[in-house]
Amino acid sequence: MKKLLSLLLVMALLVTAFAACAKADEPAATGDKEVVKENKGTDIGIVLPTKEEPRWVQDEARFNEAIDATDYSVEVLFSQGDSAKEKQNVDTLIAKGIKVLIITPQDGAAAAAAVKSAKAEGITIISYDRLVTDTDAVDYYVTFNSVSVGEAQGQYLVDQLDGATGQNLYLYAGAATDNNAFLFFEGAWNKLQPLIADGTFVVMNSSKAVEYMDKAVLTRVEMGDIIEQITTDWTPGVAKSKAESHITAAPPTGKTFVLAPNDGTARAIYDQFAKEDGIEILITGQDAEIQSIQYVIDGKQSMTVLKDVRDLVKGAIGTAIDVLEGKTVETNGEYDNGVIKVPAKDTKVITVTQDNVKAAIIDSGYYEASEFTGVE
Ligand code: BGC
Repeated sequence: MKKLLSLLLVMALLVTAFAACAKADEPAATGDKEVVKENKGTDIGIVLPTKEEPRWVQDEARFNEAIDATDYSVEVLFSQGDSAKEKQNVDTLIAKGIKVLIITPQDGAAAAAAVKSAKAEGITIISYDRLVTDTDAVDYYVTFNSVSVGEAQGQYLVDQLDGATGQNLYLYAGAATDNNAFLFFEGAWNKLQPLIADGTFVVMNSSKAVEYMDKAVLTRVEMGDIIEQITTDWTPGVAKSKAESHITAAPPTGKTFVLAPNDGTARAIYDQFAKEDGIEILITGQDAEIQSIQYVIDGKQSMTVLKDVRDLVKGAIGTAIDVLEGKTVETNGEYDNGVIKVPAKDTKVITVTQDNVKAAIIDSGYYEASEFTGVE
């Protein structure tokens, strides 16, 4: 009997001890939750390229919305177009104890050093929208399908042809330090090249594009040769001055087709061409920036490509949480970054023109109707 009593006592003590342990591990209720988060430091660090473009400011806002719905903490820093600042941002986040880094590099190759030092600390690296190149220190790539963005732009221009040959075509591209600039151009070339080769389009502003016009598939070096001539550096000011000199060198006439790589540069290029009398401008874009949606509504910019940032953010945060919780990350493709094939999550895009702008942008809840004039 004595034995039984002491056994019961030991068991009772053990149960109490377990209960106390369990309580210490549990996040404390309500008000204490923030403290628990704070003690853990920052879980996910996000580094975006610049606050100067609405595209990335929107990504920040959508990240904050998405993370509010989870128990994890996140900090977003901007590199302001500067790789040194980007490296500093990554170091700051490493010091805060992040477990996952989500990064959109300013310059894909230059970011290799920053992600390498994060990787050395055991941090999982997710390249977001733009690929970090020339390193094996990238774990995942969450992106829109950038070749399909270029294909949507090229296809739009092809669809506006009316059977006539010798149509003016002006080509523009993104920054050569951004791997996406190559993917966008590759996609556009897939659609435009056959019609350049057969004389339907005449390229007005790139001797290299003319030199390679019979090549359906360009090497990276050949693409680089063309991009060097027509790059906007993703900067509206550069786009504007290039357009100005191209117009002077080879003035547009009649129906004028313009491949513009994104919305910021499209508006700058459009405004320049719009100064010419008697031409009809057909010009592409991408990002569905608010100002460009207004240009589409007003019949100025002809199209944009909606890359629904909500989906991309969901993909990136989902990947980060899977990593934090030790789950398997689902991917549906891979991208070669020059050193490794990075497992990727690819997201689809939508072409937006005056015909579907209301359905795709407003009815879908992407932006409020009150942001625009001329839509009912
Ligand atoms: C992004 C585009 C953006 C461009 C300029 C690209 O890498 O995919 O959405 O317009 O960079 O920032």
